[in-house]
Amino acid sequence: MDRVLGGGVVPGGLMLIGGDPGIGKSTLLLQICQHLGNNIKIFYVSGEESGRQLKLRADRLNVHSDNLYILCETDVDTIINHIQKEKPGLVIIDSIQTMNLAALSSAPGSVTQVRECTSAIMRSAKAADIPVFIVSHVNKDGAIAGPKVMEHIVDCVLYFEGDRNTSYRILRCMKNRYGSTNEIGVFEMRDKGLTEVENPSMMLLSGRPHNVSGTCVACMMEGTRPLLAEVQGLVSPTGFGNPRRMATGFDYNRLSMLLAVLEKRSGFFFSNLDAYINVIGGLRLDEPAADLPVALSLISSLKDQAVKDDIVAFGEIGLAGEIRSVTNIEARIGEAARLGFKKIIMPYHNLKGVSNRSDVELIGVKMIKDAYEVIT
Ligand code: TYD
Ligand code: MG
Repeated sequence: MDRVLGGGVVPGGLMLIGGDPGIGKSTLLLQICQHLGNNIKIFYVSGEESGRQLKLRADRLNVHSDNLYILCETDVDTIINHIQKEKPGLVIIDSIQTMNLAALSSAPGSVTQVRECTSAIMRSAKAADIPVFIVSHVNKDGAIAGPKVMEHIVDCVLYFEGDRNTSYRILRCMKNRYGSTNEIGVFEMRDKGLTEVENPSMMLLSGRPHNVSGTCVACMMEGTRPLLAEVQGLVSPTGFGNPRRMATGFDYNRLSMLLAVLEKRSGFFFSNLDAYINVIGGLRLDEPAADLPVALSLISSLKDQAVKDDIVAFGEIGLAGEIRSVTNIEARIGEAARLGFKKIIMPYHNLKGVSNRSDVELIGVKMIKDAYEVIT
C-alpha cells in the first residue's frame, strides 16, 4: 500500500479508493488501521455497517488498536463537527455514497450529494492537515454516482480490482499528486483478511500449461517493479462473415495493428481466422514491450507450435515488423532469471547495454521473423 501511494500517506491528502462492492475495500482500510493505529488516532466513519458488525470484522482481522474510533454516522455536518473537535490523525469515510448533507435536497448517492459531501469533508480535513481515505463503490448503472465524479477533486485515486472468482486483488493507482501513478500492489484475500503477495510473478504464472501452443510469457514493468505475465493467443477458423478479434488485458486497436504487421511484413496470415488474446490474472498490458509476446503467442497458435516453457519475451513491434528497444532491461532480465527462465527473446538493440549473464541466454532479435525462428 505504501508503494502504491508513492511512499505513504501525506498529511492533508485526500485519497479515493474505488472498487466493485464486495471486493475488499473496507477490509483493506480496517487492516491499515491496525498499522497506523500504533501512532495516531483514527476515525473510521461507517455509513454501511453497524459498530457491532465492524467489531466482529475487526476481531476476525485481528485489528485491536486502542487508537481506532468507530463513528456510525451518515450526516456530514455531524462528522465534520467530530473531526474538528477530536482532531484525529486519519479519517476513513466508508462509503461516500451513504453520506448525506442535510442542506441538499437530493438523495444520498446522487451526483450532487457525492460531490458536495466530498468537497465539504475535504475543506475541513485540509484545513487541519488531516489525511482522509474515501471509499467509493464502482457502480455500473446510473442511479448512484461512482468514483469518476470525485476524481478531479481528490489528490489520489486508487482502484481495488480483481476477479471475484479468484482470491487475488490488485490495488492500482490512477492519479497521484504526490508520486508516481504506475505502481501496483498485489494482495490475496484469505479468511483472515488481505495479505501481501510478495512474489506476484510466481502467482501470475502458477497453473501455466506446459508445451501447449498459443502461450508466451511476457516481462512487463509495473512502476518500478518487473512482473512476469502469461499472454495467451488463440487463432481459429472464422465460421462466417468477418473474422473476430478479441483482446482481454491488451488494447484492441494494438492487436489489430499487430495482426496487420504480421500479415504484411512477416507473412503470417490471419485474414480468415478469428484471433483472441487473453492476459492471465486480470493484468492489463499497456506497455509497448508487450507487443512481442502477444505476436509470439498468436504465431504460436497459428503454427500450432509451442513456445518453450523456459522462454520469456519482450519488445516493441514497429510497423515495418522490426523489434524496437524498450526500457528497464536489467530489471526485466533479473526477474526472468529469478524465476528460473533460461532464454530471453529481446530487442537486438537492447543487447548493447547489458552485461552477459551465465544463468540466462539473451537472444537479441531484429525482426518478428527472427523471433519466430528462435521458438521453432
Ligand atoms: P469488503 O471489505 O466488505 O468489501 P467492500 O468494502 O469493498 O464492499 O469485503 C467483503 C468480501 O471479502 C466478502 O465477500 C468476504 C471477503 N472476505 C474474506 O474473504 N476474508 C475476510 O477476512 C474478510 C473480512 C472478507
Ligand atoms: Mg465496505
